[in-house]
Amino acid sequence: MPFTDIHSHILPGFDDGAEDDAAFLEMARAAVGGGTARMAATPHCDLDSNPYVIARVAEAVKVYGALLDREGIGLELLPGLEVRINSGLFRAAEDGKLEALRLGGAGKAGYILTDLPPIDMPTATADILFKVQLRGFTPILAHPERNRFLSNHIETVREMSERGIILQVNAGSLEGLYGKTAKLCALALLDEGLAGLVASDAHAPTGRNPDLSTAALIIAERLGEEAVGVLLETNPDLSLAGDPLLEVPGKTRRRGPRFRFARPNR
Ligand SMILES: [Fe+2]
Repeated sequence: MPFTDIHSHILPGFDDGAEDDAAFLEMARAAVGGGTARMAATPHCDLDSNPYVIARVAEAVKVYGALLDREGIGLELLPGLEVRINSGLFRAAEDGKLEALRLGGAGKAGYILTDLPPIDMPTATADILFKVQLRGFTPILAHPERNRFLSNHIETVREMSERGIILQVNAGSLEGLYGKTAKLCALALLDEGLAGLVASDAHAPTGRNPDLSTAALIIAERLGEEAVGVLLETNPDLSLAGDPLLEVPGKTRRRGPRFRFARPNR
């Protein structure tokens, strides 16, 4: 304690997150009530169709950070984006334009929070993420357990982790908020020590909310208190700073055979 949340949709006016300023404040209070003191605001960013969001986030974080101060809410807000893995991201990597996508604010190296469409894994995913890595940035894959293909092919998720992609599991997935398959996948990633980060991916004051306290209890029960500190505090802070993450303590041995990454056919 206190926690740092690297994935949220708390800024109004960007996406399907907070509806207005009142919802923003309600989310901020729920986050603080659950033990969170720092939060990255990470609106959805599709570089193919709407790249303009990038320019607005840092400014909005300043405006809404000031609102938190005026309201006396002890939550530090930082800029970020949740970048869709698509041809736009590949082009940004190719053109050397990844700095503006960095988690925690623009910089020359660090982490980029990415996500996949909910159903499939595009055939070019591995190539796009590798291109990002070649430019000196580390992709964080948001909620792999919520992608239908990956949640049914955990060996592919393991292979992504082995390639240096950081896996961020949603707090709500551990609680069963997104269904049984997502929950089982999230718990398996947690137990195997493959989840490097747990975050809220909060969209609203309730439901997909920013309270990390229940997830902390689940992590403590399965991996121990030290893992709570690594997954919800230390690693999130390190990722925002652009520093290497710690291994998660308490992981259990993986059962069953190792699988090779099954690349989808081109
Ligand atoms: Fe998200």
